[in-house]
Amino acid sequence: MTLDIAHSPPLGGVEALLHDARERTLRLVEDLSDRDLERVHDPLMSPLVWDLGHIAAFEDLWVSRETGASLLREDLAAVYDAFETPRALRGDISSLRRREALAYLDAVRERTLSALDRVSPFIVEMLIQHEHQHNETMLQTLQLAEPGVYSPDRREPRGEAARGTIEVPSATVAIGDGAEGFAYDNERPRHERELAAFRIDRAPVTTAAFAEFVADGGYRRRELWSDAGWVHRERDGWERPLYWTRDGGVRRFDRTVPLEPELPVMHVSFFEAEAFARWRGARLPSEFEWEYVATLAGEEHGNLDQLDFGPGPAGPFLGDCWEWTASELDGYPGFRVHPYREYSQVFFSTGQRVLRGASWATRRRVARATFRNWDHPQRRQIFAGFRCAQDGELE
Ligand SMILES: [Fe+2]
Repeated sequence: MTLDIAHSPPLGGVEALLHDARERTLRLVEDLSDRDLERVHDPLMSPLVWDLGHIAAFEDLWVSRETGASLLREDLAAVYDAFETPRALRGDISSLRRREALAYLDAVRERTLSALDRVSPFIVEMLIQHEHQHNETMLQTLQLAEPGVYSPDRREPRGEAARGTIEVPSATVAIGDGAEGFAYDNERPRHERELAAFRIDRAPVTTAAFAEFVADGGYRRRELWSDAGWVHRERDGWERPLYWTRDGGVRRFDRTVPLEPELPVMHVSFFEAEAFARWRGARLPSEFEWEYVATLAGEEHGNLDQLDFGPGPAGPFLGDCWEWTASELDGYPGFRVHPYREYSQVFFSTGQRVLRGASWATRRRVARATFRNWDHPQRRQIFAGFRCAQDGELE
């Protein structure tokens, strides 16, 4: 299967952006059998057809709110509400089947396009980004699926990982989005943070470096792990990153290839990242350290936009893989909900860890230095790695 869409952003304004988002969603699922679209591939994830219905219901909800119209499908609102129907239940409930979900997507979109002049630009952008973000979740599901379900053509990565560290003197830095253009509420308000001097690696931890940790007994050495991390390691029997095979391979969708030393390690949990950092005499950066250096690094990015089906050589802050940070998700000082509590406020101070950056599976439009992603520290299905930092400057 190929996704032969040009890498360039669409022209033609909001309609073209909405169309581009929808086209990508449909291409993700077009080659899947009904059974593979409708079944649960992993208990952690929704059936893919649920994502389709949810994308439609989310757009139905927000366009109705904006225009004062009633929902096109009031009867589906609860089924596709992420809170009322959590992931664990989505395989059991009767949601729409393929044909019905596609028809619902079409019906909602038709109404959106006819009402565009009455929907605020912020909400339209949110709908586009929401659909992009669900595409990445759907790719996580497809990577979890057993071989044979999804067979994308992968672009072969070339080149070497970046080496060395960046030294950052202590500074007062501005963090967060400055309120121009689109950002989620949790990226605001922009505010100052004091950073002590630190060093941060120019690249996320490579597969080669992580393989040394594994070979050095990293998964067996209790002293490297936090108490909570060790509980998960023991209970789930972690011996290596998710998708690594016992004999030095890694599964990328339905193909297993030899480990690729220069690529960032991916599909490790926060706990594994933390144990590696301790092994190396380093630590994970705070999300503020990360954002500050990522902003200095500018526009340079690795693989983005879903079409390469894997990361490039470890290096850039944006692209290739998400990066776990040491920070727990919380609101910034002066945080205000906008436009809805359930996007992130309900996750504040619940022990979820912040991931920064973007992965190869993130649409370019979503990738920005202020974007905050988050998940439970034991999760490994995200296209996530990490980079290491250390206190102080080099002597
Ligand atoms: Fe959603």
